[in-house]
Amino acid sequence: MKQIPPLLLALAVAAALPVVSKAQELQPLRGELAIDEHNEAPPPARLRSGRVFPRAYRQQPPLIPHRITGYQIDLRVNKCLSCHDWPNNVEEGAPKISETHYVDRNGVALDHVARTRWFCTQCHVPQTNAPSLVENEFKNAKDLR
Ligand code: HEC
Ligand code: HEC
Repeated sequence: MKQIPPLLLALAVAAALPVVSKAQELQPLRGELAIDEHNEAPPPARLRSGRVFPRAYRQQPPLIPHRITGYQIDLRVNKCLSCHDWPNNVEEGAPKISETHYVDRNGVALDHVARTRWFCTQCHVPQTNAPSLVENEFKNAKDLR
């Protein structure tokens, strides 16, 4: 095989470099601002109420199809349970929290919601029509079958 002269190789690499760094240029979500500059906050995402958005995969916590503004969840109080815990759910006509939420981390069935499920919004979030922040190619589990 013919050897490539080192100088030629160096030149070829140098010529290719700007192309590579251009392709990797990052577009920060906060825009073209200096690190100590502030930009305007984006408008809050609008809630989409009504029908629950379908789940993207079997184990996905369902999205919340209603407002939760002002629903307190702290050490003692959990407003969500006033509608979603049995037997309140019957009176409120709300879906009961999943049976999995009454099982503690050792697999013991409880008569109250497990502490591991106390902070509902750790897993369940209200659904909005917010556009994706970055492009992505996520596919629902059923589209992969
Ligand atoms: C005033 C009663 C009430 C309160 C309080 C409430 N919900 Fe709901 N929730 C409902 C009702 C009723 C539905 C059924 C859909 C609808 O009518 O909006 C529902 C639906 C849901 C669903 C969809 C369930 C499914 O199977 O798709 C989730 C998840 C949910 N709520 C979570 C929460 C969380 C988390 C909180 C606390 C931050 C909360 N809810 C507080 C009444 C309530
Ligand atoms: C650790 C994550 C997690 C936490 C915390 C959690 N959930 Fe869930 N929830 C899920 C998942 C995952 C599902 C769906 C699969 C299942 O049934 O376990 C679900 C299902 C539900 C459903 C639908 C039940 C059904 O049978 O379709 C409701 C309603 C719900 N959760 C309400 C709540 C409320 C209210 C709280 C707070 C007291 C809460 N969840 C806390 C993960 C969580």
